[in-house]
Parts: sequence; C-alpha cells; structure tokens
Amino acid sequence: MLKSLVILSVGVLAVCQALQSCEDCLKSGNHFCADTKLCNSPVCLNSITHIINCPRAPNATYDDNEARTKWLPLFGASATGPIQAQKCFDNNWPTMKLSKHILVNCSDPSPILPLTTCAMLTAVDTTQKVLVMSFRATNTGTQLEEEILNYFVAKKPFFDSGYIFEFFYDAYVALWKGGLEQEMRNLKYKYPDYEVWVTGHSLGAALASVGASWVVKAGLFKPDNIKLLTAGQPRTGDYAYSLWHQNTFAYSFRVVHAHDIVPHVPFQYELVDHDKMYHHRTEIWYNNDMSVGSTYHVCQEADGFYCSSQNADLSWNDHTHYFNTDLDGYGNQGCPKKQ
Ligand SMILES: *[C@@H]1O[C@H](CO)[C@@H](O)[C@H](O)[C@H]1NC(C)=O
Ligand SMILES: *[C@@H]1O[C@H](CO)[C@@H](O)[C@H](O)[C@H]1NC(C)=O
Repeated sequence: MLKSLVILSVGVLAVCQALQSCEDCLKSGNHFCADTKLCNSPVCLNSITHIINCPRAPNATYDDNEARTKWLPLFGASATGPIQAQKCFDNNWPTMKLSKHILVNCSDPSPILPLTTCAMLTAVDTTQKVLVMSFRATNTGTQLEEEILNYFVAKKPFFDSGYIFEFFYDAYVALWKGGLEQEMRNLKYKYPDYEVWVTGHSLGAALASVGASWVVKAGLFKPDNIKLLTAGQPRTGDYAYSLWHQNTFAYSFRVVHAHDIVPHVPFQYELVDHDKMYHHRTEIWYNNDMSVGSTYHVCQEADGFYCSSQNADLSWNDHTHYFNTDLDGYGNQGCPKKQ
C-alpha cells in the first residue's frame, strides 16, 4: 500500500513536471522540448534552453497581402530619393505623402570603411491615420554591407534593455540627431493618435528595429500604436534587447526569404561573438520565391533551430529579392506595381 502510494506520488510529480509551461520549466533549471511540448523529455530533438524561444503564436496576425502591397513599397521607397519615393506611394498607396527625407554621414570613425551615408524617410497618410518611418539599406553595394556586419562586433547599451550592435546604434543616432527626432516630435504633435509603421530591409531592417524601440524608450509613442515589419534583418541586439523588444511590441514581424544570409549575421555561434546576438519575434519565413500565393511559416520561436535556421546553405540572391521583387532598382523605378 505504502509502496504504491509512493509510486503514485512520484508519477504525479513527473506528470506535473511534464505539464509545466516552457517558461516555468526553464526557470526551474530544466530544458523544454519543442517536439513533445514537455519539460525535461528524456528524448528530445529540439530542446529549448532560452525563454526567448519558448514556443508561442504572435500577438498580432501577419497579413501576407498587406506585406506585399503596402509594406514592400514602404521599404522600397527608402532606397531612393524623395521624388521617386513619392512615386512609390503614388503607385501603391496614393494617400501616403512623403514628409521628410533624411540623409546623414554615418561612417564609423574606424578606418576600415570609406564614407558611408545612411538615409530614411518619414511619410503621413491623413486618410488612414498612419505615420511611417522607413530606413534605407546601404546603397554602396552589397559587399560593404557584408563588411559592416562582419567586422563591427562592438556593442553599445540600449537604454536599460541590453546591448545593440554599435554600428546600428551610431547610424541610428546620426539619423535621430540629423532631423529624425525633431520630425517625429512634430508629427506626434500634429497627429497624436496615428499609428506608426516602421520598416526597412537589411541594414534598414536593423535600424527599423532600433527606431521602433527608440521612440518608445524616448516616451514619444506607445508600443501599442507601433507596427514593425522588417525584411532580411540581421541580428541587431543581444538577448536582453530582443527579449525586451518582444515583450514590448505586440506587432513586430521579421520577414525572412528562404536562404537569405543576412538574418544569420552576425552568426550566433561564431567565436568572436562573445555575448551572443538574438533575433526578436516573430519570424515569418518564406521558404520559396515569395510570389503571390506562396506559403509561409509563422515561427513559434524567436531565434531557435526552427524556420530559417534549418537552412545551412545561405544565399545573397535571396537577400536582394523579397516578395518576388528584385529590390535593386525597385525604389528607383518608383516601386512599380506587380501586374
Ligand atoms: C563622417 O563621420 C565620421 C565619423 O564621425 C568622420 O570621421 C568623418 O570625418 C565624417 N566625414 C564627413 C565627410 O563628414
Ligand atoms: C502577448 O500575449 C501574451 C499572452 O496573452 C501576453 O502575456 C503578452 O503581454 C502579450 N505581449 C504583448 C507585447 O502585447
């Protein structure tokens, strides 16, 4: 009798342990199994050891059609000058009006790179009550971007929420001080109840993540009024930054095209990367050409071994093509609508 009671209670204990939430499981020093959804599964292929990766659905709904018809021209517009940028809006979102185009020197003082400029634009739609911050990718060639991402591993504190990559921090501050801060204060004053849509591709994607976070930290906008969608975003901040970001923004999507190399940079497990950089939620992974009707994964983990991390063969071509559109020249052509 006593013996069976002991066995029973051990069994109950084991079940309780197994049914723990991923967060509680990790907090108690165990590992959570993504495959079995159990705490401390003895056999586990994909074991989760970081709370940032505890599987869950996003708080907002990803809309593929909106991404390709609205967000794509928004980040496409940042790759060109003010006149073509307005064409991007006229062709795709006619009530959207360019407000300000900001271009600054964002060279790192380090001698490794030549002069680099960073650019972004703001726009206003008074019909749909939307403000836009859209950040440009580098325009001096893809190699430069690779170099930046590979050589600059230094980090700076991001307010009280972890660290971000120094190059992104400095580039963002150059834009902020170069007119963005004044512009966002003006827009907030004029349109206090508008939503803020923040976006970018590549380097612009990292700056968009920083920008959305910055206007919240600066107390200018509430996270509930902000929507962030990035394409081909490199790892931008460390664990604390990304955990804060995903606990703060309900609407934050990180679109990744198939084998795009940039979301894997800086590589999470390379030797130089002492404090590892992590992505925040929610990755939307298209493992195809992203043409209309393509399927996509709404990834359950922030930066785990699901979704794009399954791909070991990485591609630059996938980085420059999003939503079946060659981003080289897309903005300069005024973001032509797909037929
Ligand atoms: C751009 O900024 C860098 C870093 O602050 C500085 O060293 C450089 O002189 C600047 N270049 C120009 C052309 O202003
Ligand atoms: C997302 O939803 C979860 C579960 O309802 C909630 O606890 C969390 O605060 C939400 N996060 C954001 C950023 O809204």
